[in-house]
Amino acid sequence: MQHQAGNISKTGRSATIPIRFNLNGQKVEIAVDPTERLLDTLRYRLNLPGTKEGCGEGECGACSVIIDGLPANSCLVPTFQVRNRIVRTIESIPASSLQPMLETGATQCGACTPGVVVTANWIKENSGVLASHSMRALMAGNLCRCTGYDGIIDGLEKWLGRDGGRS
Ligand code: FES
Ligand code: FES
Repeated sequence: MQHQAGNISKTGRSATIPIRFNLNGQKVEIAVDPTERLLDTLRYRLNLPGTKEGCGEGECGACSVIIDGLPANSCLVPTFQVRNRIVRTIESIPASSLQPMLETGATQCGACTPGVVVTANWIKENSGVLASHSMRALMAGNLCRCTGYDGIIDGLEKWLGRDGGRS
């Protein structure tokens, strides 16, 4: 994917920052405004609308992505900061992952669901963290206004092949 802008300001200096990064396994080259949020770059410039905006201020987790293997709120990350880094979005996760959550009523309006699934997939891929943290604690950064969380926790336990227990 190549997206190059390259605006020049009145001072003759480039108003954008050219960066490269890996997005869902593909190389991206793009020029970004220093204030551009990763959330907006993904949704509006790279045509990946699966990452959602909720609060826009780091509270809800709807915009969750994985950067260099760790969950992050893309609404708080200036895009230039992912230069040379590896970014994964909800689009990198198979749709079949949603099935256990559909079965437990973990998604209602769905606004939180992409962020929930991104974090849950991270837990699945790093299941050792469950030795020292409860599922609820690990999911604490992903807010849901509809489900009361039990359906989410049950769906995640099912996805992980655990017996439940809503821990
Ligand atoms: S939109 Fe990013 S944390 Fe809420
Ligand atoms: S399902 Fe509506 S906010 Fe979670």
